[in-house]
Amino acid sequence: MNANSSNSLLVVPTGALKISEYPLTDVHRDNPILLSLVIPTYKERNNIENIVNILSRLLDEAVPGNYELIIVDDDSPDLTWELAQSLLPDYPQLRVMRRQEEWGLSSAVIRGWQVATGRILGVIDGDLQHPPELLIQLLQKIEQGADLALASRHVDGGGVSSWSVIRRFLSRGAQVLGLIILPGVLGRVTDPMSGYFMVRRSAIAGATMNPVGYKILLEVIGRGQVREIAEAGYIFRERTEGESKVTWKQYIEYIQHLIRLRVSTGRLGKISQKVNFPVGRFIRFGVVGFSGVFVDMAVLYLLSDPSTLALPLTRSKIISGEIAIFNNFLWNDAWTFADVSMQQKGWKQRIKRFLKFNVICWAGLVLNVFVLNIVFNLLIPNRYIANLIAIAVATIWNFWVNLKLSWRVTDVK
Ligand code: GDD
Ligand code: MN
Repeated sequence: MNANSSNSLLVVPTGALKISEYPLTDVHRDNPILLSLVIPTYKERNNIENIVNILSRLLDEAVPGNYELIIVDDDSPDLTWELAQSLLPDYPQLRVMRRQEEWGLSSAVIRGWQVATGRILGVIDGDLQHPPELLIQLLQKIEQGADLALASRHVDGGGVSSWSVIRRFLSRGAQVLGLIILPGVLGRVTDPMSGYFMVRRSAIAGATMNPVGYKILLEVIGRGQVREIAEAGYIFRERTEGESKVTWKQYIEYIQHLIRLRVSTGRLGKISQKVNFPVGRFIRFGVVGFSGVFVDMAVLYLLSDPSTLALPLTRSKIISGEIAIFNNFLWNDAWTFADVSMQQKGWKQRIKRFLKFNVICWAGLVLNVFVLNIVFNLLIPNRYIANLIAIAVATIWNFWVNLKLSWRVTDVK
């Protein structure tokens, strides 16, 4: 059975980073293959043919016809994807995805798993630093009952080949930091940084993953329903071709990632899930809204106060309101909805979000005045209580409509 009937590239999924319970293709829905192995690549031109060859030989022997290799390349300037595509005729189990609108290691892995047709989803680096032979051991561990099997540098038989003292220190430091911030996840494995593992589809189906960072394993353990975990030791080999893409930026992202996972899988996250409402986001939105009040006040003072510019009140208010909206937009885009805006980079997209946000906020203001009048005149004849209710209604409106319209992850092009 050929995994790829033509030599065309895979269509890149869009929308939420969520794995479905069953493979999406009709043929495989009720009849999934055993293993889908994703190979994320960025500038791996000199490695790709070699790794595809080694993996294919290994798996053709162990699980013939019952696996697929999915290369997910982020439009590498060295045209890794093109070279990978040229291999398709020779490797019937190979599939290739070229992403142009989204990038990053973690989301690449998830996009690959989204098109996968296997019951077991795996990932391996494309640079041969992960020993391919270990795949068989990992697969066995899952077949023996583990939900997740990972290759670890820190169990028997594991290690790093020739890392400097500094790199070892940084790696262990990151692990300790992780244990402090997120013990429930990092405490379960000896090598939480591992990017070489397999997981049952059923253990992560339905959970929405976050695209941040390099460490997809944390996301899988943190958000999935992973019961039994098994490990197998491996030596992290040196690269012979190409170079690592890890920079200081990955360390920052890693810490952000830990905190985000902590928040979303902690108490607040549980409440969020139970009531099916993004509580954390709403709180951030509220904090930003509060900051807007001060911006509005300050600008109004600068423009309209008799001791400053002494402009007419209405004109001043329109300007101060608009500046506050702009302030709120920037914070919401960078913080409240950072995960969404990160997936829709570029100025055009950002301006579009701003225009929508702006229109929704003005509508919110109209709603605010309307509710104030209704409540005050018909229900509670206290203008301050009525105003509080009006503000609450307008805030929820602003939040909800912006969530659905301005920062929605677009499914259609
Ligand atoms: N699609 C895609 N997009 N692939 C990427 C990206 C990206 O933005 N960045 C890196 N990759 C690919 C690389 O081409 C390689 O195949 C793999 O992801 C790992 O990247 P490296 O840059 O080689 O990482 P490393 O070797 O320094 O770091 C590795 O450290 C861990 C050891 O604890 C990680 O990759 C882990 O997977 C590994 O286990
Ligand atoms: Mn590497």
